[in-house]
Amino acid sequence: MASLENPEESKWLDDLPKVISCGMTLRQWKGSWLPEPGLKALKRMDAHFRPLQDDVLVTSFPRTGTTWLMALTFAILHRSSQLGKSRTTADPLLTQNPHELILSLEYRLYRETATPNLDQQYSSSSPRIFQTHLSYTQLSERVKESGCRVIYIARNPKDTLVSFWHYWNSNPRRPSISFEELFEAFCKGTVVHGDYYDHVLGYWKERNNNVFFITYEELTKDPVKHVRRLAEFLGCADLTKEEVGAIVWRCSFERLSTAESNSGGRVDYFGFPFSSYFRKGEVGNWKNYLTPRMAEMLDEITQRKLMGTGLQF
Ligand code: A3P
Repeated sequence: MASLENPEESKWLDDLPKVISCGMTLRQWKGSWLPEPGLKALKRMDAHFRPLQDDVLVTSFPRTGTTWLMALTFAILHRSSQLGKSRTTADPLLTQNPHELILSLEYRLYRETATPNLDQQYSSSSPRIFQTHLSYTQLSERVKESGCRVIYIARNPKDTLVSFWHYWNSNPRRPSISFEELFEAFCKGTVVHGDYYDHVLGYWKERNNNVFFITYEELTKDPVKHVRRLAEFLGCADLTKEEVGAIVWRCSFERLSTAESNSGGRVDYFGFPFSSYFRKGEVGNWKNYLTPRMAEMLDEITQRKLMGTGLQF
């Protein structure tokens, strides 16, 4: 394993803009704020990651439905080997969280080593599937030129914020943050992977250009229609109606939230309970958390940032 204590990396970090937000030190690189260990991993990834044209990257701003999209991508691409004839056939999604089946480039693979063996994970059989929360601007030119398929999920900012807050506070290893504090940081854009709007718009502008773009709200409203669309993008247009229905069921909130993999005390690499990836799974849950004034403020920001882009939530 290559040494991770590289003085070059530290020097590079020291020169980046810095902010302390919600108790975390964040640095800004190519427009987005990231914690320092994430940035070190990014630098290693930039030097080493050579995507294949066949690769699939599941991308998103945190708490927008990444886990759902990962499960769907996994289920679509592993349909023949895993679906079986019976709905009770052993399914890896019931024993492992999607984040264990598809590894994060910056938070797992390149966090642990500078030269990970990218073919040594569950999803190594072609196509390889990776997950990342990096912004489009932060993806290397190699990724953009490789022709690999990028799938992006976005979600309305108010539900994203609420979900982010619950997730953050679900980890007993981290100091908890107040909703007001996170709200303020989210509005300013100084949250991990923020600014939220820049993140979403970066991918939105690239849709139709090897980027598949979907919103959590669309997927919730008509999962069959959008899973079909996703399958076509992934080169699986031959899925039958029954197979699409089975994939939607296999990845449903009801099924995955009660699976052995996602309940009980299992925690992820950073100490977040796997159950925190499946909280409510609702559209509009923000109404229980934002005051009318907060909702008005965020709506005003959303309107301003999305004006003229054609994107709506
Ligand atoms: P809530 O906290 O609003 O419930 P991410 O995977 O990007 O961290 O996003 C997590 C959010 O997606 C959580 O939202 C979670 O409940 C929801 N989610 C996870 N799996 C889902 C599924 N299969 N169907 C619908 N929503 C899901």
